[in-house]
Amino acid sequence: MKTKLIAPSLLSADFGNLQRDIEMLNDSQADWLHIDVMDGRFVPNISFGFPVMKTIQKHAKKFMDVHLMIVEPEKYVEEFISHGADLVSVHYEACTHLHRTIHHIQSLGAKAGVVLNPSTPVLMLEDIIADVDLVLLMSVNPGFGGQKFIENTYKKIAETKDLILSNNSTALIQIDGGVNIDNASKLFDAGADVLVAGNAVFSAESPERMIELLKV
Ligand code: DX5
Ligand code: ZN
Repeated sequence: MKTKLIAPSLLSADFGNLQRDIEMLNDSQADWLHIDVMDGRFVPNISFGFPVMKTIQKHAKKFMDVHLMIVEPEKYVEEFISHGADLVSVHYEACTHLHRTIHHIQSLGAKAGVVLNPSTPVLMLEDIIADVDLVLLMSVNPGFGGQKFIENTYKKIAETKDLILSNNSTALIQIDGGVNIDNASKLFDAGADVLVAGNAVFSAESPERMIELLKV
């Protein structure tokens, strides 16, 4: 069965009106809420931490999808889960002991995802694909919203799909970065299950309508 989920990224929300934007997403057809955490070390930008997570947890009614763009994510996964994360995704490039971290996340009752930067080959996942709940393929270099989609992502979706099938894995494929109305249906057709969209949703005249359009 094909999954077509949209995960708006709060990174592009209006932080002065965070409650309003979260409530808008609660009432929309958004499936997940994508939460981008950046530390200024793994990526050249800092987004937010636990005080903001508390506000998100208080108001969000959707599945909370936390994307950690931080070094040593294993130190913080427990705290993100206690702040409401339903899924925690960690970067392959940031984890020395990825297998341990993935199983630690799952042992705390959350789903676990692994993220690949655009330059990291899919074959690096060969020995972890059977363990993860989700593979997040970055389609921009992480750190900022509103960047241009990298076309090589289509090739990586096909490779990830093959890897999932040949290992009887149940992992979903998520795409993050530069997703918009021009590429969303192509990405679903190529095998993506979940699309993250920040700029496309929040710069739209009607974010709710844009979320609907991205699903078609
Ligand atoms: C980038 C983040 C993305 C970002 C996507 O580092 O991981 O989730 O918010 O934003 P858009 O959709 O604007 O490219
Ligand atoms: Zn993200």
